[in-house]
Amino acid sequence: MVSQRRILVTSALPYANGGIHLGHLMEAIQTDIWVRLQKLRGHDCIYVCADDAHGTAIMLSAEQQGITPEQLIEHVSNEHQTDFSDFLIEFDNYHSTHSPENQELSEHIYKILDNNGHIKRRSITQLFDPEKGLFLADRYITGTCPKCKTENQYGDNCEACGSTYSPAELIDPRSSISGATPIEKDSEHFFFALPEFRDMLKQWTRSGTLQESVANKLSEWLDHDLQEWDISRDAPYFGFEIPGTSNKYFYVWVDAPIGYMASFKNLCDRSDYNFDDFWQNGKDTELYHFIGKDIINFHTLFWPAMLSSAGYRTPTAVYVHGFLTVDGTKMSKSRGTFINARTYLDHLNPEYLRYFLAAKLSSGIDDLDLNLEDFAQRVNSDLVGKVVNIASRCAGFIAKGFGGYLSQTLDNPKLLDEIQSAKKEITDHFETREYSKAIRSIMALADKANQYINDKQPWVIAKTEPNSIELQAICSTGINAFRLLMCYLKPVLPAMALKTEEFLAIEPLQWSDIDRLLTAHKINKFQALMTRVEADKVQAMVNATQQEFENQEKAKTTAQAKSSSDDSGFEAEIEFGDFAKVDLRVAEIISAEQIDGADKLLKLELNLGSDKLGQQIHRTVFSGIKSAYKPEDLVGILTVVVANLKPRKMKFGMSEGMILAAGPGGEEIWLLEPHSGAQAGMRIT
Ligand code: 2FM
Ligand code: ZN
Repeated sequence: MVSQRRILVTSALPYANGGIHLGHLMEAIQTDIWVRLQKLRGHDCIYVCADDAHGTAIMLSAEQQGITPEQLIEHVSNEHQTDFSDFLIEFDNYHSTHSPENQELSEHIYKILDNNGHIKRRSITQLFDPEKGLFLADRYITGTCPKCKTENQYGDNCEACGSTYSPAELIDPRSSISGATPIEKDSEHFFFALPEFRDMLKQWTRSGTLQESVANKLSEWLDHDLQEWDISRDAPYFGFEIPGTSNKYFYVWVDAPIGYMASFKNLCDRSDYNFDDFWQNGKDTELYHFIGKDIINFHTLFWPAMLSSAGYRTPTAVYVHGFLTVDGTKMSKSRGTFINARTYLDHLNPEYLRYFLAAKLSSGIDDLDLNLEDFAQRVNSDLVGKVVNIASRCAGFIAKGFGGYLSQTLDNPKLLDEIQSAKKEITDHFETREYSKAIRSIMALADKANQYINDKQPWVIAKTEPNSIELQAICSTGINAFRLLMCYLKPVLPAMALKTEEFLAIEPLQWSDIDRLLTAHKINKFQALMTRVEADKVQAMVNATQQEFENQEKAKTTAQAKSSSDDSGFEAEIEFGDFAKVDLRVAEIISAEQIDGADKLLKLELNLGSDKLGQQIHRTVFSGIKSAYKPEDLVGILTVVVANLKPRKMKFGMSEGMILAAGPGGEEIWLLEPHSGAQAGMRIT
């Protein structure tokens, strides 16, 4: 019996200003498989995560949407959690960096660092947006490249000629937030004295904590340019104020990793876990961070150095993975390959992706390609063609000939023994994150099981001897092989494993169940455990992604047109001809309903009068008036509709027009109601 390990695991905290996409999911799935494996083995493994809620981007995004950052991050957190949970990512806690626990821990750690003399203060000069009253990070400055003179280059490097420069060197620099010309301005910043940790880090990075390629990369930095790390940002900033200052905030990357601790602390406060066991006295517990290769320096330099100064334990290991590419290239919105979690879920089963990624993931930091053809082919041939096939070819005969009972003695114990004996090898592959090797071993065993069934041809025996002991023993061997393979696959395919447990009428499978077989046991009727990936659904997902991109581009153009409106707040002028194109009609609302899952929309059926043949013209319109009207109050009232608006595909269906309303929003939205003398169908002139 292996002794029980106590393990705390994290994956990187997603920013709260965007949705979860397949890149996030690759990491979450990699982590979740590892955590599920440990739990199945009986270890005490805790997986925590949170939203990374601070920073300028989130502040600006909230401002643009006309809501507070707090409102924004709450809304996004709900979406993130639903997306993760629908991909069967099983967190033990999901928190936020904008939490009391995180504020307390961040202040506490900062104060110790400061007492230890590891916080330096000095004034620096930065570009400042005088209109917005905001210091500008490089990515918020655009201008003309000083070398090749290409316009509209961001911050500190030119995409056209590849040269790097300081943003102050840009010709005609502009703030991309307000369009103003930035000025140079001084302010005091706080720095973390990273160079003082050179020796500690040299030792830590070489103590088995990192993959070799990562440790090699770091030694270059450690031997050369370790610089003090700027950890403060001036107001306005959405974050935690630095104790003892006014108007200075922790840079988002200070309290982000502390967010791992805070999420765990939040769990401790609601459970029997002890915070100090995992963070103070790290001897009997393990701590792992799963991250992408773009954030290595934050996790393997700043973070261990901060932890060590503050007297906490350092991570047991940081596991770095590469990026996800789709069809061989970086995920791209215009090509339809920057796929959001929700768009995927609208078309495909989450376990397809879990399986495909597991079949491709290794412990290295190379990028992983999701080739969409390969994806469908791989899932269909392995899961449907191999694994499910074993069960589906045996289950019917057990049901028909033996009342659902598996035999007492099995026909091929050697085959089952071979599957069981692979346990150590498969466990090691999962443990070392060589998932593709684990899957290869499992599929090789599935091939053997299928070969065995092909050789025995139970369907031939069933024709003449449907109740023979031999048939029962063969099919029971097949079902046992299937059970063992599904147990190995359970960390990857938890939902399919659950269906398997229902089908086999067994308790939830544990890793130790691989050492046992199932005999003289009644199983349930076979049910479909996994259906094939359909190519047209994959294509529909890509099309939907492209559509989202086009809608975003359109929204941007509309926003730009709006911002070009004059100072009175009116839209830019249009020609009379443009206005004359708008076909406004009186419409009667004939039905109004709530929509499941929609926060703002109601579904309305409108009557627009009758056409030349006397047929009533009906239109379905989705309208964002749910906060102001009860559906039942709308039926029968007259309103005004833009009747010739091109139908738009919305999440809940096609919207065939738009009704007119006025008001600031919330409960204060009033539909335009024509005088009661009007009738449905009348044109408004
Ligand atoms: O790169 C990112 O998406 C960050 N939000 C990751 C933070 S990980 C941790 F340090 F909080
Ligand atoms: Zn250039």
